[in-house]
Amino acid sequence: MIFERNIIITGGAGFIGSHVVRLFVTKYPNYRIVNIDDLTYAGNLENLLDIEAAENYFFEKANICDAVRMRQIFEEYSIDAVIHLAAESHVDRSISNPLSFVQTNIVGTANLLHIAKEAWQNAFDGKLFYHVSTDEVYGSLGDTGLFTEETAYDPRSPYSASKAASDHLVRSFFHTYHFPAVISNCSNNYGPNHFPEKLIPLSINNILNNKPLPIYGKGENVRDWLYVVDHASAIDTIYHQAAIGETYNIGGHNEWKNIDLIRLLCKLMDEKLGRTAGASEQLITFVKDRAGHDLRYAIDSSKIQRELGWTPSVTFEEGLSKTIDWYLANPLWLEHVTSGDYLTYYNKQYH
Ligand code: NAD
Ligand code: DAU
Repeated sequence: MIFERNIIITGGAGFIGSHVVRLFVTKYPNYRIVNIDDLTYAGNLENLLDIEAAENYFFEKANICDAVRMRQIFEEYSIDAVIHLAAESHVDRSISNPLSFVQTNIVGTANLLHIAKEAWQNAFDGKLFYHVSTDEVYGSLGDTGLFTEETAYDPRSPYSASKAASDHLVRSFFHTYHFPAVISNCSNNYGPNHFPEKLIPLSINNILNNKPLPIYGKGENVRDWLYVVDHASAIDTIYHQAAIGETYNIGGHNEWKNIDLIRLLCKLMDEKLGRTAGASEQLITFVKDRAGHDLRYAIDSSKIQRELGWTPSVTFEEGLSKTIDWYLANPLWLEHVTSGDYLTYYNKQYH
């Protein structure tokens, strides 16, 4: 079969990556999608069971830092685009183990850029390197204001510093070599397949098991939440429409204080589980704050809305309800990911 495009998606077995892989494999049967993932604790091929047999889907277990393998894959599949999501992604893990973030997020991105440039032999027509990044590179907001594409970088955790460094590398390739790169910076995602170390899936899992809901500090930190399927659709839009060298912020205009969000989650779960109103809220437990905890993130996504016509498709209440329903319908997925590395991490982080 001759494919119209040959696209690598890195980190496709992770949370957001699996939604991007599913969207591209099903929406574009003429594109060959090569998922490169090293299957760290966060990578899970069970996220892709529904599409793994598709004729245009290929999986390569490989580390993005491995230059020899990356070169081979570029050659074997005649790659003409990369959508780069592979990363160490959890802020708390970056506080206890920063070097693995430097390795994957900085060295891994540099390696992919270098191999792509080499494979494309500086003939960049029809080629694209799309780097998926985070709003955390912009630092922390006070009570007002929004991050725009012009906000100065001010990363404050080893995770966000490593993502900022990777963004700078991507931009440096664009400016120095006219390398065909685009970047997007997105706010907090939530939805199906979210690994239960992050606030929302961790809380869903703990409510199900009647375990304490650990809220850092006073729960007053604010995050701007976007349903993961909407992030995938934004990535699709940017991949197909963005001009080379552009950056787009993606967000849901949906700010929540952590404590208010967890109260809403408790209410919805009590209703769905047939528990007495207020039962799950009793599980809320305030714990030691995260070191260097950023107060507030909020994204101005007017550029992508205005220039590319993208908008989020679901309200937060709808998205949260769908998310809870997915976890209730997939107890085996949860059981499989809450073993091994995750349990060791959980015991160290919270006890
Ligand atoms: P995730 O941790 O769920 O998935 C990361 C994936 O990358 C995993 O499948 C893992 O196995 C793979 N991976 C890690 N190191 C690798 C390596 N060295 N080589 C190959 N594969 C490797 O992360 P996520 O939440 O899905 O985030 C995906 C991307 O989106 C990241 O780049 C992250 O910075 C960015 N992002 C995430 C959010 C969010 O809210 N989760 C928001 C904005 C941006
Ligand atoms: O903003 C985008 C970023 O969002 C992504 O780049 C990251 O990959 C992603 O992990 C996420 O980072 P956060 O640190 O905002 O997400 P997390 O779910 O870890 O935490 C959300 C908020 O909840 C934050 O203020 C910390 C707090 N929290 C988190 C955990 C895990 C708690 O209060 N208790 C917890 O147990």
